[in-house]
Amino acid sequence: MKPGNLKALILCAGKGTRLRPLTYSMPKHLIPVANRPILDYALEKIEKAGIEEIGFVLSPETGQEIEERYGPKFQYIYQEKPLGIAHAVKVARPFLKDDPFLLFLGDNLLEEDFLPGAQEFLQSGLDALIYLKEVPDPRRFGVAVMDEKGKILKVVEKPKEPPSPYAIIGLYYFSSAVHQAIDSLKPSWRNEYEITDAIQFLVEKGFKVKGRIAQGFWLDTGKKEDLLEANRLLLDLQARFSLKGEIRESKITGRVTVEEGARVEGSEIRGPAVIGKNAIIEDSLIEPFTSIGEGALVKNSGITFSILMKEAQVVNIPRLESSIVGRRATIIQEENGILGLRLHVGDETEVRLNKP
Ligand code: G1P
Repeated sequence: MKPGNLKALILCAGKGTRLRPLTYSMPKHLIPVANRPILDYALEKIEKAGIEEIGFVLSPETGQEIEERYGPKFQYIYQEKPLGIAHAVKVARPFLKDDPFLLFLGDNLLEEDFLPGAQEFLQSGLDALIYLKEVPDPRRFGVAVMDEKGKILKVVEKPKEPPSPYAIIGLYYFSSAVHQAIDSLKPSWRNEYEITDAIQFLVEKGFKVKGRIAQGFWLDTGKKEDLLEANRLLLDLQARFSLKGEIRESKITGRVTVEEGARVEGSEIRGPAVIGKNAIIEDSLIEPFTSIGEGALVKNSGITFSILMKEAQVVNIPRLESSIVGRRATIIQEENGILGLRLHVGDETEVRLNKP
């Protein structure tokens, strides 16, 4: 069987409450890192593995923006209530039928390509292959115990006393046996149908379940710090020296991408960094691990280790660091104003100023 016979199901129904206020107006899966939505990276890997039939599970609140971005080439399945990963698989059953499939949690970022895992799953005739990563505090995750050959002996969701350091991460391969497991589930303490419980059912009933330790980085982009870290890792891995925009009286060092239509004037940019299409950088210093979105404006400012989204504006700010600035948000220090702050910030916005 070739990976082309596998289907892929990408879960994008989570509300991203820990990423508010950004997620009041956009699905967390579309938040850009290194100037591309998080979801693009997984989709690219799935397509590269030769998987052609791809479905997204969406929530009614944020699904439309995802459908609009990715278009009619894919299947979109709506999960009316957030009742867990196993429930999402159940809702997607008409799309999955009895075919083997890859299941991916759309807010995760993995460095490893998906093809080797797909081949291992298909060639070994497994019922489940689950990706694992050793983490310092496994209590926040599903945790797996396996033998020296990688056979899974036990899995448990968010254990108080983890039986191993291996967290279950957001990539799984399943045969149709998983549907039978899901049908047997009862809701967990958090009122969700847990995919971990379905895997435990497969283990107990003697199905073939293996673990695979993910190579390279893995990130679950649930919080602001994770997004900045994802931005750092992806810029580190992917940024290229490419200047398509206009550069005037500026110094560019390292791996810096300046997209078409962008203008950099009287500024210095130190890579890895990316400046999106039609962005303007004037009299400013852009330091490593910074992504400036399409059409953004940075004037007379310094920015480091940050994400500025589409059409954001930063003017007269000597140093902006470890920050995420949403679409069309503005951070401006007025030139002749009296010392003080004049704010117009939405719900749950965070403003932190350093004392001089
Ligand atoms: C979910 C799964 C958990 C897994 C984690 C990976 O947790 O239930 O087993 O370890 O994703 O990100 P949740 O994000 O729903 O808390």
